[in-house]
Amino acid sequence: MRKKVTIVGAGNTGAATAQVLSTRGNADVVLMDIVDGLPQGRALDIAQGSPWTRSSVSVTGTNDWADTANSDVIVVTSGVPRKPGMTREDLLGTNAGIVRSVIGDAVAHSPDTVFVILANPMDAMCHVALEASGFDRNRVVGQGGMLDSGRYRAFIAMESGSSVKDVSAWVLGGHTEATMVPITSNATVGGVPVAQLIGEEKTQAVAERAKGGGAEIVGLIKTGSSVYAPAAALVEMIEAILLDEGRVIPCCALLQGEYGINDAYVGVPVRLGAGGIQEVFEIPLSDDELAAMQAAGDAVKELVEETPSA
Ligand code: 2OP
Repeated sequence: MRKKVTIVGAGNTGAATAQVLSTRGNADVVLMDIVDGLPQGRALDIAQGSPWTRSSVSVTGTNDWADTANSDVIVVTSGVPRKPGMTREDLLGTNAGIVRSVIGDAVAHSPDTVFVILANPMDAMCHVALEASGFDRNRVVGQGGMLDSGRYRAFIAMESGSSVKDVSAWVLGGHTEATMVPITSNATVGGVPVAQLIGEEKTQAVAERAKGGGAEIVGLIKTGSSVYAPAAALVEMIEAILLDEGRVIPCCALLQGEYGINDAYVGVPVRLGAGGIQEVFEIPLSDDELAAMQAAGDAVKELVEETPSA
């Protein structure tokens, strides 16, 4: 039997994720939203293109949680997006209520699922999802590091004139402008340190641009935020879990002592496979990077304290 993935939220990112995922052919996709007609219309649109994307999996749109039953992975994109001038943190109160309610319904129909959280502020929403689900930390993972690292890698490739395929560079820490930690100490292109290729100053400038990569898009589009990069990053994470790939990639995980951080969701390298997070890795960091990671953990804890309870 084919695997099943539910994407909650049929907005632009949810729909783009469903479309990309369907083209990979590894899972039937359910697009779930409370707005009548929206997920159904999106799913039909994707299905009508399936002869040309050569996709044999089913894509279903629904407003009924029963259709999501027994999903292997559930992606939570629901919530309001940023408008120009807003930070991800501004969305805290509204999105916490939405995520809490979504997780309750989702768990009732898929008690063995793994959650991938995208709703913003993502780090704090992981805490909401963990608490609302009652799951252990392996089964609630946040998407931030993959998106931010994708931006960092793309900008390094653009600046150095290299193929993005050869860039290895990670953004860890939080998924807010103030708490992202681009790891410059081990960023390389084909094993060549990035600073050797483009110099220290440009390396720092590229890292700063990666931090503001989401806001740069909001500023350009004005009426919406990023869509395609989050969708691409989500599909990598979903497939790592579905196919038990054991990918070692940057994801937001609940830390329990790693990096000197306790009980905060922070972006770190993890092994992602069947069952979700299989291992959290501590890697060597410079003193500044470690301090920035710990500051990210403190900032997430503050946001969690400010999150309205149910
Ligand atoms: C971003 O960074 C929406 O958080 C998302 O673009």
